[in-house]
Amino acid sequence: MKAIVLSGGKGTRLKPMTHTTAKQLLPVANKPILFYVLDQIVESGIEDIGIIISPETGEEIRKAVENGPGWKAKITYIVQASPAGLAHAVKTAQGFLGDSQFLMFLGDNLIQDGVKKFVAEFQSKSPDALVLLKEVEDARLFGVAELDESGKILRLVEKPKEPKSNLALVGAYLFKPDIHKAIGRIKPSGRGELEITDAIQEMLNMGRRVDSHILQGWWLDTGKKDDMLEANRVVLDDLLKRSIAGAIDKDSHIEGRVAISEGTVIESSTVRGPVIIAGDCRIVNSFVGPYTSIDAGTVIENSSIHHSIILGNCRIRDMENLIDSIMGRNTSVSKCKAISRSTKLFVGDDSSLEL
Ligand code: DAU
Repeated sequence: MKAIVLSGGKGTRLKPMTHTTAKQLLPVANKPILFYVLDQIVESGIEDIGIIISPETGEEIRKAVENGPGWKAKITYIVQASPAGLAHAVKTAQGFLGDSQFLMFLGDNLIQDGVKKFVAEFQSKSPDALVLLKEVEDARLFGVAELDESGKILRLVEKPKEPKSNLALVGAYLFKPDIHKAIGRIKPSGRGELEITDAIQEMLNMGRRVDSHILQGWWLDTGKKDDMLEANRVVLDDLLKRSIAGAIDKDSHIEGRVAISEGTVIESSTVRGPVIIAGDCRIVNSFVGPYTSIDAGTVIENSSIHHSIILGNCRIRDMENLIDSIMGRNTSVSKCKAISRSTKLFVGDDSSLEL
């Protein structure tokens, strides 16, 4: 059995972060989302993985994976010339997939407890496809499944204006090679993409067996800023364990589940978990509150912050109550000390500030 991970696309909804970083590499609890996906694929027993990359961000993804912790798997990179849809990505990977059955995992999706159980279910029950579903509040943002009373899938529609159910298609799918035949029969959708949802619907039209499984645990699609913050909150809540390796001075308090890596210095500060702080950071005279992830090399002075994601090498100074924020690498924010209540900005394209 093989797997493909979709890590191409444009990431337009996560600008400005995605001007410089592939969205699948944005960190949740200081770890790129793509790494959770690779961990979960390997955990399910699959050792032959193709990563779909775009010409723009592919090299960055390749480097990050090659410099990553290492996975017990053979990894092949497959360039998709343009983001022409999830089914187009499968088409691009056809040479890699051959006549194997395969798991397709979207590189920006996080699934609690992974996919091991579903891969095993697919292998033992042997349907032509197995899709995962999850109840959501606003189904208009997703592919949506309509089921009959017995739980059999009647119809699948991509981002319907008026959803017939609240069951969204989760970004992990299992397929037998017949999916390629179905993809060959579909046309691009209204948004100009070859939709995997349409291809699965085509499998149903072809009389193939498509099973579904409703997820009980959490599922996070990290497409937008608030989704990223929510993913960070849920993952810190669920997975973080206390481990303190940095240097904490006697005037500091470290409360609850806090992970601090080596090389980090905490002085005259309170850190209240769940919080993760990578190495080589300096937190001075500050409060770091729940659901915050701080990546390597960041300095925080005379500030209070919570429910935020701070990437590497940032500078935060004299900021009171910085909340619900995401700061990209090498950015700095500080309170203006001028007597006039002025605000001075040097902000890149597509940024958003709430002052
Ligand atoms: O997250 C689940 C949803 O994912 C499903 O409910 C939808 O049915 C499905 O179409 C998909 O919708 P999104 O609009 O969220 O897909 P997005 O464009 O964000 O792409 C998902 C991942 O696939 C992302 O990591 C980028 C990658 N991708 C996307 C496209 C369009 C590719 O690698 N190639 C592509 O051509």
